[in-house]
Amino acid sequence: MTLEELKKEAETLRAAWAEAIGGAADPESLEAVRVKFLGRKGHLTRLLSALKELPPEDRAQAGRILNALKQEITQELEARGRELEAREREKRLAAEYYDFTLPGRWRPLGHLHPLTQVRLEIEDIFMRMGFDVASGPEVEDDYHNFEALNIPEDHPARDEWDSFYIDDRRLLRTHTSPVQIRVMKSRKPPVRIICPGRCYRRDTPDATHSPVFHQVELLWVEEGLTMANLKWIIEVFVQEFFGPGYEMRFSADFFPFTEPSAQVHIRRPGGGWLEIMGAGMVDPAVLTEVGYDPEKVTGFAFGLGIERMAMLRWGIEDIRLFFQNDIRFLSQF
Ligand code: DAH
Repeated sequence: MTLEELKKEAETLRAAWAEAIGGAADPESLEAVRVKFLGRKGHLTRLLSALKELPPEDRAQAGRILNALKQEITQELEARGRELEAREREKRLAAEYYDFTLPGRWRPLGHLHPLTQVRLEIEDIFMRMGFDVASGPEVEDDYHNFEALNIPEDHPARDEWDSFYIDDRRLLRTHTSPVQIRVMKSRKPPVRIICPGRCYRRDTPDATHSPVFHQVELLWVEEGLTMANLKWIIEVFVQEFFGPGYEMRFSADFFPFTEPSAQVHIRRPGGGWLEIMGAGMVDPAVLTEVGYDPEKVTGFAFGLGIERMAMLRWGIEDIRLFFQNDIRFLSQF
């Protein structure tokens, strides 16, 4: 091959190149064009290897020509590549159009059961007043549920707590009061606890009765406590929980484990009176039973119905609603 021939071939190649690159409309065909010209067996590569067939004095010039061509091709290839890439990107973005003004899709989220909400709020109020939260077993024995609370075997008051017995000695606790006994037996006074928990009674379900329900027990034992302290605690609590507008009534009652005993009724604005708790001064017989000296310390206690509190707060008339798990009811809280 002569220098002239090579120059000619280089021109032909340049023309072929111009046509090929003009026709490459996407990255794949561009790559094919690159291989065709710059690949190991490509046109330019082939021409470059023909250099050595030239007379030595022509090789330098021929080399410059081919290198210039190679540089030109490489640069155009890159420019075209960037151009095609940008075009692809635009196409993709146009296809991926999102309308950010559309409303999002709503997913239902669970939340705490209304009784749990009320329990947590009650715990919070009393914890702020310095009470610990204690707990005890739901499967209780006769001793803690009745006997130690001054309710012996044949006591007529046992009829008030119609019980689910598991065997001779064990039953599902009918109230949270047995936790009083467990706590006092394991701690020295002063004792200041609340105990929220589930209770069970053999009641036929109706609008105001459920065989499963919840109480919060409160117990404060220390030197010098009186009924006035009890009344104050209850007043503060009712005020904190319900806010203004609710009325409270304190009246005499009887429980074997308190003396004197009281019951507390609450009235919702425009509503009727509903009993929310039994309360009283811990009976000296109970203090003695747990090893406390009733000459030195006194105490008071109450058992509060959580369902009652929720019913009063939201004007719910049927206790069974809390246990039916009807989403139409639950989603309101
Ligand atoms: N345990 C009683 C009940 O379930 C309620 C009660 C009354 C609890 C007086 C007390 C109390 O702590 O002092 O009916």
